[in-house]
Amino acid sequence: MKTLAVIGLQFGDEGKGKIVDYIARYFDIVARYQGGANAGHTVKIGDSIYKFHLIPSGILNHKISVLGNGMVIDPLELQDEINMLKGFNPKKYLKISERAHVVMPYHKELDRNIEELKGSEKVGTTGMGIGPAYEDKYARIGIRIIDLLDKDLLKKKIEIALRIRGRYLNSQYDPVKLAEEYHKLGLNFKKNIIDTSDYINRSLKSGKTILFEGAQGTHLDVDFGMYPYVTSSNTSAAGILTGIGTKPCHVRKIIGVMKAYTTRVGEGPFPTELRNDIGNKILTKGNEYGTTTGRPRRVGWLDLVLVKYAIDLSGVSEIAISKIDILSGLDEVKVAHAYKINGKTTRNLPVKIEDLQKAEPVYKTFKGWEYPTNGKKNIPDEMMKYLNFIEKYTETRISIISLGAKREDTVLLKRI
Ligand code: IMP
Ligand code: MG
Repeated sequence: MKTLAVIGLQFGDEGKGKIVDYIARYFDIVARYQGGANAGHTVKIGDSIYKFHLIPSGILNHKISVLGNGMVIDPLELQDEINMLKGFNPKKYLKISERAHVVMPYHKELDRNIEELKGSEKVGTTGMGIGPAYEDKYARIGIRIIDLLDKDLLKKKIEIALRIRGRYLNSQYDPVKLAEEYHKLGLNFKKNIIDTSDYINRSLKSGKTILFEGAQGTHLDVDFGMYPYVTSSNTSAAGILTGIGTKPCHVRKIIGVMKAYTTRVGEGPFPTELRNDIGNKILTKGNEYGTTTGRPRRVGWLDLVLVKYAIDLSGVSEIAISKIDILSGLDEVKVAHAYKINGKTTRNLPVKIEDLQKAEPVYKTFKGWEYPTNGKKNIPDEMMKYLNFIEKYTETRISIISLGAKREDTVLLKRI
């Protein structure tokens, strides 16, 4: 039996999609377990660019791709992605959980309206209806993928949801029309809708290998992230059990993906944020714009307090580090290894947002380095010192380094 999980150690956009694309070749199945089309990653193969929001990028390697029950799925978005992947025959590889929840058009409107009501306290969501879809799930008025296949039942469920959520909606929604439209969408991938939990567990029993692909990052976890500036799912390894429906012993090895610096989209605390020329330089060089929203990301130095917290929380066994090439050419590179809060130095992550907002990072400064020129594996000394410091601080080894956007630029340092 062999599984591996890939999760984000920061605020999402750590480069998980690329790492998954790189290691998917060693697995039979790639499965997502939380989130929805708020996620976004780009995979470049040769000159082709693929942007993913829902379907695991493993599909590019012709791997069975599972959308687990813990996800919230927008059928319109799913249809778009299936169309984009036409050349890869996606319907042959796609398995969609009948228990996953559906993002409806009114969820997207609710997302916008609730953000507006929050005013300056807004979260800065992606506007993809993620929060409201999860709210409906927990309020027991959600629509599940399986409901799409029964038009009358679907209409009834939409009516109930609209009766309850209507007060926050400005647009009029016709349950009959919505049921018709979404039933039709559901029929498009009817053959792909299955009990994915049963499928995964049977596959494991028969010796198949599975890669669990996390979306977003640990600090956006609804329980362990910087609440309320989080997404509405469990982005840490905890989400795998509920979002897939498998035994705890099936989640043993976890790769934590981190960027060599920090980025964040949306509102919320960011102790090492750089609002200066260096920040802008990294933003431009790293092309730090959201895949889903196109928003420029906030950029800052690497924050190891955050990374260590995420590693300890999920029991991460190996680190994959991305985009270290983007830091090449700077005079110096800094890493936060503690915070000063109200005059006290701590390596612990405060729970209170107000304390986090006051946190002053304590930095270690490294001399800059040039991009490795004679062969990718020839890592410059200063870059090596930076990597060694990360390993020592986190007590976790780095096994993958990604030195660029292309599949060919990823280096496997140690056997996983
Ligand atoms: P939501 O998931 O759209 O509700 O957004 C909640 C917060 O999570 C916002 O700060 C978003 O910017 C952030 N977020 C959600 N998905 C991603 C992602 O895939 N990458 C980075 N940030 C994300
Ligand atoms: Mg992303």
